[in-house]
Amino acid sequence: MKNVVAMMMRKGGAGKTTKTLLIADALSRFGLNVLVIDMDPQGNASLGFGRPVRMVAVEARIGKAKLEEPDVLTVIEVINSGEAGVADEAIIIVDTPGWTYDVDMPFHRGGPLRPGKVGTIGLIPAYEALEDLPGSWKPADFERLAHTLLLPAEPGGASPNHRWDVVLIDTAINQRLGVQAAKAAYYALFVTNAEKFGVDAIPKTMRLIKDVRENYYHDSIDVMGLVWNAYVPRQNTARALTSDAMQYHRGGLEHWEAPIWPYEIPKTTVISDSHDMAAPVSAFLTTSERREMAARVCQVAEATTLRMLDELGHPLAGELRTAWHQAWPQKEQTDVMKEMA
Ligand SMILES: Nc1ncnc2c1ncn2[C@@H]1O[C@H](COP(=O)(O)OP(=O)(O)O)[C@@H](O)[C@H]1O
Ligand SMILES: [Mg+2]
Repeated sequence: MKNVVAMMMRKGGAGKTTKTLLIADALSRFGLNVLVIDMDPQGNASLGFGRPVRMVAVEARIGKAKLEEPDVLTVIEVINSGEAGVADEAIIIVDTPGWTYDVDMPFHRGGPLRPGKVGTIGLIPAYEALEDLPGSWKPADFERLAHTLLLPAEPGGASPNHRWDVVLIDTAINQRLGVQAAKAAYYALFVTNAEKFGVDAIPKTMRLIKDVRENYYHDSIDVMGLVWNAYVPRQNTARALTSDAMQYHRGGLEHWEAPIWPYEIPKTTVISDSHDMAAPVSAFLTTSERREMAARVCQVAEATTLRMLDELGHPLAGELRTAWHQAWPQKEQTDVMKEMA
């Protein structure tokens, strides 16, 4: 089951965390279970789910030194253990007030696609100490994370990722952490800002993937596609960006015609506000004045998620797509949905 997808782009503010949260929201409302692994020392995904890692004071065993440790297990402990199967022990089930769905709401108002059935969101959080971790690694340690995250606890048992419909890894720009994230994943989904600097980060990210394939013995990773974030529809700019990006795709890595997915995330305060509130964007579907924009963002996220399920060969992909088209009232379907019909 190759269901582990890393959100990648070697640029800050590209939309990796935004996209991670949007897809988790969509999967959950589709009734599927999603595990999000936060691999960024900034811990933005953890914060976005309302579960930032907090430091708690611990008593020094000797002397008066003030010591602190994280209040929960994090991706750091999972990586450091180097043991198969331990990832499960660090998973937090996201049930924060903002991320609790009203199961009685219809789908187009933020509820589940199938009555009563909301998928579980699991989170392995991260915090700033992750930044220093690669500094302590020896060359042999570079093999560890992939093993730690994907190996079953007992030989022949199920790998941690098998218990989830999809595993998303939110990544950092740090190259060594990026390599580890890519090693643990079967696919990379590129997300970048629809602007010059955003496009410029694509070849750098492609090089990291190439490095992982060629030098870190993980040639089963593929780039699923590229999604634009913070997209403002200006036709000429869009055309120029697309042609630049296509050139990078062709020139950057032979045989990798990773497509640009036609589901652009608009630039909107609904997204930044959802982060501030530690709530999914779908929560805005019940508000009156922001409903239209929230509907657009949700439909983009849902379309992206369905495409991802197709690529992963998820058995429910087709069924969910049909139900999705029926769940949104005709008059609220944006061009994103109409083009997919
Ligand atoms: N489409 C968007 N519209 C408005 N604000 C956005 C959008 N995408 C991202 N942001 C904001 O930009 C910042 C960076 O986005 P983020 O997803 O954290 O990028 P990354 O994870 O790649 O560093 C965040 O503060 C986020 O709220
Ligand atoms: Mg981020």
